[in-house]
Amino acid sequence: MISVLHADAYCGFSGWVSDHDAVHATGAQPVFVGRVLWPGASEPEDTVIKLYPTDSCGVANEVIGFTANAVRGVDQPARGGVILLNREMLPVFDADVTAYVDRSTGLAVCWAATLVQNAKPFRFLRRLSTFDQDQLAAFFRSKFAHILTGVDHATGNSDRSDANFLYLDDMKYVAIDQGAVGGGPYWHSSWPDETAGNQLNLAAQREMTASQLSSWYASVLQEGLKTQDIWPEVSNQLRRDLIGLLDSEQIDTIVEYMSTRASNGTLAQACGRLI
Ligand SMILES: Nc1ncnc2c1ncn2[C@@H]1O[C@H](COP(=O)(O)OP(=O)(O)OP(=O)(O)O)[C@@H](O)[C@H]1O
Ligand SMILES: [Mg+2]
Repeated sequence: MISVLHADAYCGFSGWVSDHDAVHATGAQPVFVGRVLWPGASEPEDTVIKLYPTDSCGVANEVIGFTANAVRGVDQPARGGVILLNREMLPVFDADVTAYVDRSTGLAVCWAATLVQNAKPFRFLRRLSTFDQDQLAAFFRSKFAHILTGVDHATGNSDRSDANFLYLDDMKYVAIDQGAVGGGPYWHSSWPDETAGNQLNLAAQREMTASQLSSWYASVLQEGLKTQDIWPEVSNQLRRDLIGLLDSEQIDTIVEYMSTRASNGTLAQACGRLI
């Protein structure tokens, strides 16, 4: 489901994310758009390439989140993967990238996802988008939002901010940036962290009336239970994809931690069903 790509798949720098998305302020994290030749493709494709510090779980988090979304049919960039780039191949960032490059190999292990053309960030919470109240209500009624809220709960994604899903039009949404799965780029030592904030659920609580919220909870819970049911499929997919990237002990740790998360009963609580 995800690809592991080596330096030979990288066909050069294309631009900064801000060239494609004027709203995106350059954050602390090094991210750029590169041309990538994906397996089976004949032409390189514009791809968002994102670096994480070598001591963080960021890339693993992206892999887990992308895989769970794919298994559950959450719309997201067509391709996602891990690309290993030599330090010399990276564009020149404002910030020093030493912490992002493995010292022994000289490689930056980056997350890569194809650029979704014409996708806009939501940012409705900051009232910067043109979304009106009806469009916002349509979003909260969408299967996309219900399924993603359940998936985010299962994976412990604490950063589904309104910059981390995009929209193509009123009814078409795209999930990006799963870097904060497991509560954040650095996993908690007391696993599983049951308190990772679910920003979509919090946004729904803020934006909806009591009766809207009651159908939101019912649907989110239903979709969340489906995610629990199919979790073994996510685990199997992760085991297949992570071979070659991590050793078997590391893969076991990730899969077991995520299975524990996915099967805990806290979504019902988060949806106001006391058990
Ligand atoms: N696959 C993609 N297609 C289109 N735009 C994208 C894609 N991935 C990222 N972007 C754009 O780049 C921005 C930054 O990407 P991302 O959220 O992955 O990185 P980030 O460092 O977490 O930035 P932020 O702090 O804004 O969330 C997004 O808000 C979005 O506007
Ligand atoms: Mg982001």
